[in-house]
Amino acid sequence: MSESAQPVRIAINGFGRIGRCIVRALYENGYRDQLQVVAINELADIETISYMLRYDSTHGRFPGKVEVADERHLLVNGDRICVRHEADTARHDWASLNVDLVLECSGQIKTRSECESHLNGGAGKVLISNPADSAVDNTIIFGLNHHTLTADQRIVSNGSCSTNCLLPLLTLLDNEYGIDAGVTTTIHSAMNDQPVIDAYHSDLRRTRSAVQSIIPVDTSLPLGIARLMPQLAGKIESLHVRVPTINVSALDISLQLRSEARAGDINDMLQAATAGSLAGILGMTREAHASIDFNHDPRSGIVDATQTRVSGGKLLKMLVWFDNEWGFANRMLDTACTMMSRQRPGTADS
Ligand SMILES: NC(=O)c1ccc[n+]([C@@H]2O[C@H](COP(=O)([O-])OP(=O)(O)OC[C@H]3O[C@@H](n4cnc5c(N)ncnc54)[C@H](OP(=O)(O)O)[C@@H]3O)[C@@H](O)[C@H]2O)c1
Repeated sequence: MSESAQPVRIAINGFGRIGRCIVRALYENGYRDQLQVVAINELADIETISYMLRYDSTHGRFPGKVEVADERHLLVNGDRICVRHEADTARHDWASLNVDLVLECSGQIKTRSECESHLNGGAGKVLISNPADSAVDNTIIFGLNHHTLTADQRIVSNGSCSTNCLLPLLTLLDNEYGIDAGVTTTIHSAMNDQPVIDAYHSDLRRTRSAVQSIIPVDTSLPLGIARLMPQLAGKIESLHVRVPTINVSALDISLQLRSEARAGDINDMLQAATAGSLAGILGMTREAHASIDFNHDPRSGIVDATQTRVSGGKLLKMLVWFDNEWGFANRMLDTACTMMSRQRPGTADS
């Protein structure tokens, strides 16, 4: 990016857990020179939006200044952000705010055709905070395939927090040892689509109290693996359970490797990647940890080397921690920078 280039003008549609983490990470982690939030569309009223940006049970107080300037504008660290409350995606007007990129974080939009409403409203591009249908221009897992982004790709998915944690790691293991088969279990913190106390939901299991049970939910992780790593299509099965914590998740990974491996060698190979090709994306710890220790960790996954096991020479078991909110929000910003050809903070690549 040249010295004189203006920041990319961003709108955030849906200002929930991920939307608010994105704004916090933008100011906390050095993205503000490249990206500027100029609009937020969220159904809640502006006073509540302001309050929930300032105070967060998971990530603490906002480390800056948030003010309500008037009934349609927030001031965040002095930056003026237009606040709208439009539920109908067909009625978005992004042209009047010169929005370059919409970060679609409502959780309501999963297809290319739904995203086109943002383009029709005048936005230049859209980045979706969840897996989308195969008609989107690309699905990016930062560290794995962000180099495949091209200027003409206008509707892009950022995958899921689980795919961002798993796929860079799977790629390393497949390249080094080969993977014949595998099973993963995502052990995920509770989310806003679960009730605190039993309540009606279209998914029977999600009618049950999030604070009282370990709750299995459906996962599309094998679809994501098949799309992004076609060589592993049909070889990996996945489970997903929600647990009563408010943030930080773990992936329990079991893989049948093609060639023999030792746990120590696998850890050493992954450790090298954390300082090389996947620096800032993949981490490793050799300390005794519990999940809360990774709250507010910006990396996509942190291998817990103390939990790596190999049985019978080829059956590998691993545990990888990830902050499902903060890590993913930071990857949304990394992908946004690359989509708009801006430099990721702290790197020389663009
Ligand atoms: N949380 C995570 O750990 C995580 C990680 C990776 C990806 N994601 C994905 O990111 C998406 C958002 O997740 P989240 O956890 O941030 O959910 P969330 O906290 O429920 O946030 C979604 C927000 O969007 C608002 N909204 C709903 N419909 C809208 C519309 N038509 N226009 C504008 N705003 C609308 C919601 O308002 P109401 O509450 O009033 O409906 C809510 O405030 C989901 O697809 C999720 O799968 C989440």
